[in-house]
Amino acid sequence: MSFLEYAPAPESKAILNLRDSYGLFIDGEFTDGGGKSFTTISPADESRIAEIASADEHDIDRAVAAARRAYEKTWSKMSGRDRGKYLFRIARLVQERARELAVAESLDNGKPIKESRDVDVPLVASWFFYYAGWADKLDYAGLGANPKALGVAGQIIPWNFPLLMLAWKLAPALAAGNTVVLKPAETTPLTALIFAEILQQADLPAGVVNIVTGAGATGATLVRHPDVDKVAFTGSTGVGRDIAKAVAGTHKKVTLELGGKAANIVFDDAPIDQAVEGIVNGIFFNQGHVCCAGSRLLVQESIHDEVIDRLKNRLSTLRLGDPLDKNTDIGAINSAAQLARIRELSDIGEAEGAERWTADCVIPEKGFWFAPTIFTGVEASHRIARDEVFGPVLSVLTFRTPAEAIAKANNTPYGLSAGIWSDKGSRILAVADRLRAGVVWANTFNRFDPASPFGGYKESGYGREGGRHGLTAYLKGAAA
Ligand code: NAI
Ligand code: MG
Repeated sequence: MSFLEYAPAPESKAILNLRDSYGLFIDGEFTDGGGKSFTTISPADESRIAEIASADEHDIDRAVAAARRAYEKTWSKMSGRDRGKYLFRIARLVQERARELAVAESLDNGKPIKESRDVDVPLVASWFFYYAGWADKLDYAGLGANPKALGVAGQIIPWNFPLLMLAWKLAPALAAGNTVVLKPAETTPLTALIFAEILQQADLPAGVVNIVTGAGATGATLVRHPDVDKVAFTGSTGVGRDIAKAVAGTHKKVTLELGGKAANIVFDDAPIDQAVEGIVNGIFFNQGHVCCAGSRLLVQESIHDEVIDRLKNRLSTLRLGDPLDKNTDIGAINSAAQLARIRELSDIGEAEGAERWTADCVIPEKGFWFAPTIFTGVEASHRIARDEVFGPVLSVLTFRTPAEAIAKANNTPYGLSAGIWSDKGSRILAVADRLRAGVVWANTFNRFDPASPFGGYKESGYGREGGRHGLTAYLKGAAA
């Protein structure tokens, strides 16, 4: 096949106004950290972006104390209406600085600018707008009379959607009247620190939001701090377990959003071209670094060959490369460690007997890259059918009847999301009803809306984020 070449269309980095080094954001100011600082790099070429402070135990103490003071003196005394005003202001500033945030996100994370510009950053603004609207309506949300905030929330977020996960955590916590200490992931701290500047611009009272950078140990210290009332975490199941143990027997409330191994089920009556787009969006969006990714394709046996042919054709047109180029579909893998994990699981897939197909892409010399890959002939017992790869790797299984599709879809320790492709509404509803997954998409995939609750069953975690349900995680005694 031959295609017209696309001329490079890089988004300019000139809009960024980065500092050479960033401190911790505590009590409204940037301050030094006691831990050993680290460098954040661009995964697309391994170039240095900035030096980042690391918070030690003393810094976490300072941050939690600042959050506690702000909670007692300011935030819990303020009316919901006034808290809402700050959230609206933050949402508008995110929109004003949208291009800058998108460029910074793609630079630090490796995701295509097309995604950070059209998905991540607009959703960040919509999350703040949505929860801004709730701040003065908590009494009318059906969550009990006059619901009260929990106090200080410690929040730990991952690297796959750095700014969006920040928004998912901060917006409901602040709307409900809590103050926060937030720890971004160590490979993607940049947009959280630019966001700290936005908080200054918004005149948010000092200490209401504190941002502490650092690695896993910083997160572990925050989780264990005795004056934290609520822990919210998104990340790996292993760390989720560690956190659940650390808070067991304490007064702390906890919500965990962990991994997934979602089934994307394609029935023989599905519109195939539309389904192929949905499969691509399901697993190759954000390089497959998506907890709710459609990483297991369950396709009805009679249409298997046709679906796979069309899918391979489609994947051959995807452009892999510079995340800042507006034509790029597949960006860089976020870190060397994640790339190693994806390679290892893919090699195991091959060794276990599945058939590997990889899109023909030119891989850049520097940086971390993995071309879109499909495994066919996958069996339910294979590691690539069971473990979360968290990369651009699709495992394909087949089924013959709806009952078999449901049984295979539910045959996983996870339960975060699923997809169904069919022309028949009644079949979609009947199957959706029997899938053990927090979110089920029908004839679409990877759609997010602030009004819609999101969260898992089983090892995918507990609690819901988004919507009215998302408020309950930050209010005393509120039941969804
Ligand atoms: P991770 O769970 O180690 O990192 C997520 C966040 O937790 C980061 O901010 C990290 O600094 C922090 N953290 C690490 N150890 C901690 C501890 N003991 N206590 C408190 N906080 C801690 O995830 P990692 O190692 O980056 O990725 C490993 C795998 O986890 C991925 O391959 C993927 O399968 C899964 N993952 C799932 C995510 C999701 O959205 N559900 C997000 C990131 C990773
Ligand atoms: Mg980085």
